[in-house]
Amino acid sequence: MTTALITGATAGIGAAFARRLAADGHNLVLVARDTGRLRAQATELHDRHGIEAEVLTADLSTDAGIEAVEKRLADRVSPVDLLVNNAGFGNKGKYLDVPMADELTMLKVHCEAVLRLTSAAVSGMRERGRGGVVNVASVAAFLPRGTYGASKAWVVQFTQGVAKDLAGTGVRLMALCPGFVRTEFHERAGMGTGNIPGWMWLDADKVVTAALADLARGTSVSVPDPRYKALMGLVKLTPRALLGGVTSRAGRTYGPK
Ligand SMILES: NC(=O)c1ccc[n+]([C@@H]2O[C@H](COP(=O)([O-])OP(=O)(O)OC[C@H]3O[C@@H](n4cnc5c(N)ncnc54)[C@H](OP(=O)(O)O)[C@@H]3O)[C@@H](O)[C@H]2O)c1
Repeated sequence: MTTALITGATAGIGAAFARRLAADGHNLVLVARDTGRLRAQATELHDRHGIEAEVLTADLSTDAGIEAVEKRLADRVSPVDLLVNNAGFGNKGKYLDVPMADELTMLKVHCEAVLRLTSAAVSGMRERGRGGVVNVASVAAFLPRGTYGASKAWVVQFTQGVAKDLAGTGVRLMALCPGFVRTEFHERAGMGTGNIPGWMWLDADKVVTAALADLARGTSVSVPDPRYKALMGLVKLTPRALLGGVTSRAGRTYGPK
């Protein structure tokens, strides 16, 4: 039996990882800010699957929160075999509509926390000769799209670089790049989603199934759906200036209301 630590475990993609990993018999460390929700989730997963689920309340936009999770990941007595850096959020609006403090919080959660937690996890994994890290990015990583896209591009570049540095050590890293997924993400950000066509929405459980299959295959960047694989193929062929115009207009329609 192995242990997985999931950040942002209580909702959306993180909750889907927790459900799937618990069903597969892994013990869990569940990380988010809402302790009541974490406890209810831990009890449910324990009762349903007979696994141990620890609760770790931490706000990854703070140093204290990141340090608490680093400490758990560095525990050699009760090691973590799989880290899922999933916690994240969106800010409503285009550049200059979003307060600077919110942009900086995004960089702290999406980049600094991912860097520090990955580092805390992989040093022990390398010693043990096995382990995995899934860093949840987005297809926004491949589009010119403000701080959100830039932060996710950092996640992809960082993860691919570290995966190469650790090749042959038994430690696997993968950046997961979904398209639109039905979660609490857009509602929390106050974003309308009426303009997003139905075919573009993905199911969180299916995203996780595809992601874990890609991780098992040793993929370093996973785009977990054929529709988005095709779209990202088109994106690679489209001039950046044209892409910038399209993503900026899309930001205007489903971003600020
Ligand atoms: N939904 C999409 O369309 C989509 C597409 C591509 C990529 N993604 C990425 O997927 C990841 C998960 O998003 P989601 O759609 O599943 O969002 P979600 O349903 O809103 O869930 C977000 C989770 O992160 C936690 N969280 C948020 N801020 C946190 C913080 N400062 N510290 C600790 N935990 C925090 C939340 O719990 P608490 O509020 O209790 O902390 C919650 O468990 C994000 O990185 C997002 O960028 C989402």
